[in-house]
Amino acid sequence: MSLPIVFLHAFPLDASMWLDQASAVADRTVLAPDFPGFGSRPAGPSSLDEFADVVLADMDAAGVERAVVVGLSMGGYVAFRIHAKRPDRIAALFLADTRAGPDDEAGRKRRADQAERVRREGVAWLAGAMIPGVLGETTRSERPEVVERVRSLVSGADPEGVARALLAMRDRPDSRPQLERMDFPVVAAVGEEDTLTPPAESQAIVDGVPQGRFVAIPGAGHLSSLEEPTRFNAALGAFLARLDRR
Ligand code: MLT
Repeated sequence: MSLPIVFLHAFPLDASMWLDQASAVADRTVLAPDFPGFGSRPAGPSSLDEFADVVLADMDAAGVERAVVVGLSMGGYVAFRIHAKRPDRIAALFLADTRAGPDDEAGRKRRADQAERVRREGVAWLAGAMIPGVLGETTRSERPEVVERVRSLVSGADPEGVARALLAMRDRPDSRPQLERMDFPVVAAVGEEDTLTPPAESQAIVDGVPQGRFVAIPGAGHLSSLEEPTRFNAALGAFLARLDRR
């Protein structure tokens, strides 16, 4: 039986970032929830634990007991919170461009400053500030359509949702102590050009879990699934095929 998949989106995007992946696994039950304050979901909860509760409720509503959880960046942070609450709901984890550790002091201050600015000015400035960090060198020079897609997603985000998510990410706990308790297959994939959560962060996840595998995605930065969907989908497809054979 093919396992269902739950796709968890990055900040400050929404579930539509997973369109390429969802169509590649259309033979399965696929859930791609918007976190509160993104896409179709109004801003509400303000912690990653509450985001995890929303995902678990969506799984309940869809009758999905256990799933392969795929989380990119903030989606990965939420996957860690789901694991902390309900490890029984995760059959396997495909993490991308994320980290298990918390923000450092400078990072926490930057989140608070950004949340304050978004509440004051809206999100118009955010795409320009984020794109150099979230897209790799190759995408920025060779894939104008991807740059445009990300710009449009960021510019369309709800300021209050963005501000709350920034503070939720700032306050997320350290997930590193959980890693050794992840008794299911884990892939940590990362764009080779990711400077926000560089490959060493994914390697640290792999080193910490009992059954981990590291996957590098050439030609991609932090938003690897959007930048290199073919390579990303190949890595995800290989992981799913391995799980189906178990
Ligand atoms: C994301 O892509 O979800 C964010 O870059 C995560 C973060 O800012 O830590």
